Amino acid sequence: MLIYDNIFSKDEIQRLIEFYKDQPTSNERRHANGKLQRVVKSTDYNIKDSVPYNIIHDKLEALIGPHTFSGGHYVDSHLPYELHVDTVKHFQSKEGVFVASDGQTGYGVLIPLIEGPEFKTLFFDHYIDDLQFGWKTLHHEDRSNTLPDNVMSMLTHQTPEELEEIKYLPLEGIADWKLGRVVTWPRNQLHCSSDFRKSGLTKQAVVVWVTTD
Ligand SMILES: [Fe+2]
Repeated sequence: MLIYDNIFSKDEIQRLIEFYKDQPTSNERRHANGKLQRVVKSTDYNIKDSVPYNIIHDKLEALIGPHTFSGGHYVDSHLPYELHVDTVKHFQSKEGVFVASDGQTGYGVLIPLIEGPEFKTLFFDHYIDDLQFGWKTLHHEDRSNTLPDNVMSMLTHQTPEELEEIKYLPLEGIADWKLGRVVTWPRNQLHCSSDFRKSGLTKQAVVVWVTTD
């Protein structure tokens, strides 16, 4: 995971927020418990000369080099993401509409459109292709260290059974959501949101998946 700061100005972030406000919803996803999990809209980053393309493209190219859009969305998360990877297998099983055409190579790119102490993405030093069958595939051999309490307290949206496995995963780092920031990671890297439910807020971002040359 890499973090780049001060890439977008407040004005550019505001223009992205305004743009997506007017876009139609393309998908609403509900949690297994029936609660609204996230509202998704097209990024339009794949459309040359769209507002997002004009704001994002040259700056992202300066960071990661020439890249090809594989998929992505504007997302308004009402519930925190549980531990997952951004691979094609995962999308086919869970996301439906966001299947990329280029296998599961490439990088995720996060552009937060909101910031605050509740909003974080945790990245683990653990890479897998799929979490479809859940926690059986997650076993981390080195179980000599466990995550500190302050990290475990960010993961209260995972079940106790899941936390029994997650606690042995090595943490690579935590990306705080900050406006202007860009976060990138390999698509098969395990990551999840912090549990922001107590804040009562929802969280907005642009997420795209790209391949680089
Ligand atoms: Fe993800």
